[in-house]
Amino acid sequence: MENSFSKAGKRIIDWIDNYFSTVEKFPVKPNLNPGDIEKLFDYAPPLKGVNYDEILHDFEKKIIPGITHWQHPGFHAYFPANNSEPSVLAETLMAGLGVQGMKWITSPAATELEKLVMRWLQQMLKLPADFKGVLMDTASVSTLCAVLSARERVSDYTINKDGFMDKKLRVYCSAEAHSSVEKAVRIAGIGSDNLVKIEVDDLLKMNTSDLKIKIDNDIENGYLPCCVVGALGTTGSGAVDPLEEIGKICLENNIWFHIDAAYSGNALVLADFRDSVKGIELATSFVFNPHKWMFTNFDASAFFVKDSSLLTKTFSLVPPYLQTGHEDEIDFSNWGIQLGRRFRALKLWYVIRTFGVDGIKEKIGKHIELGKRFEKYISDSPDFEIITPRNLNIICFRYKSTGSKDKNAVNEKLLESINNSGKIFLSHTMIRGNFVLRFVCGQTNVEEKHIDNAWNIIRQHAQELK
Ligand SMILES: Cc1ncc(COP(=O)(O)O)c(C=O)c1O
Repeated sequence: MENSFSKAGKRIIDWIDNYFSTVEKFPVKPNLNPGDIEKLFDYAPPLKGVNYDEILHDFEKKIIPGITHWQHPGFHAYFPANNSEPSVLAETLMAGLGVQGMKWITSPAATELEKLVMRWLQQMLKLPADFKGVLMDTASVSTLCAVLSARERVSDYTINKDGFMDKKLRVYCSAEAHSSVEKAVRIAGIGSDNLVKIEVDDLLKMNTSDLKIKIDNDIENGYLPCCVVGALGTTGSGAVDPLEEIGKICLENNIWFHIDAAYSGNALVLADFRDSVKGIELATSFVFNPHKWMFTNFDASAFFVKDSSLLTKTFSLVPPYLQTGHEDEIDFSNWGIQLGRRFRALKLWYVIRTFGVDGIKEKIGKHIELGKRFEKYISDSPDFEIITPRNLNIICFRYKSTGSKDKNAVNEKLLESINNSGKIFLSHTMIRGNFVLRFVCGQTNVEEKHIDNAWNIIRQHAQELK
């Protein structure tokens, strides 16, 4: 006889199965005010337990209305956090095992599968053979680990021990870099004022002449250049910094070169895109997020370093109660901040095996084709304009609007009206002072019909503003 766990578990898998096939019936983004969901629940925790059915009922009635549906093919905002059936199955198994893979001995399979999937990803993206990989939760944390390790390397591992004393470190990134770089610099104790923002060119890529001048000036003024973060796909527009030139500047000055490829790095599986990106081999570290565009549910961030001792010298701290007698094996907890570690490798193992590398390439390639389709709608329309050339499947555009109306205000209003429709969800960015609508088509099951539908909705809402 089935017990209640087994029955409830099957219902939940059926629920997810049905959700995946009917997600389009939900509004992509709920139209709610802050607090609307919270007030549906009792303030005090329940004294008595209830059965799974009752909880699932409340989940449907009270929680689902407050969900933004990231798996909806009309989700074109930010970057996707896309998902797939194999990823959900693996996440379920992970929960069942409840493994905490902090040390090799706390689950040899967790460590060894992590080594395996990182090698697979390394080959899939054609990353340099000497890179060593580890799974983190997010790109923010991977970048923080890079900045902390760069800080230690440049200070000859004295800051971890002595504190900052009088050292003045500098970190560099382009004005378009993700805010996680500044967060890392703050947390590392380097300070936001020592994050030097480098100018960008017309295509929003880092201007390496400006980088060189700023590094030279800093050295002359007694600063220690510590790390340069180059973007392989900025958040705003997907611009790829000139990584090869940045890498050479870092080499000449012995500076840590970290590449943030959080989203666009996934497209390195495609030979054309991989061939167009030069300079990855010069990186000291590199991060990309399979949880953004490799059909692996959040979270899974792949962090690679050229020399893993740069991480272990920064992070390893092994008190007697964590010694296992297997110190020659990799303990990934010594490669980063957290001690306890999820068994994320299982998700990637499931996803890569189910899709196959060819299946992953096919889907990512299709998403780029869909990006081109959307771009064509915009560029063929007299009412809209592309603001910066498309990178992969990221399209930055705006409504031209007529007359003397403030274009930024008009586009802000247009975005609000589109998103309130609940049919599609877009986000925005600022480019050279322009409020720009940003359209990304990387949701796992997005098809041509969704792009056509999105374009019709955008046009219709723009018409209504006239
Ligand atoms: C270029 C870039 N870097 C870093 C991040 C931060 O990613 P995470 O949420 O994994 O920290 C993002 C998020 O969109 C991003 O676009």
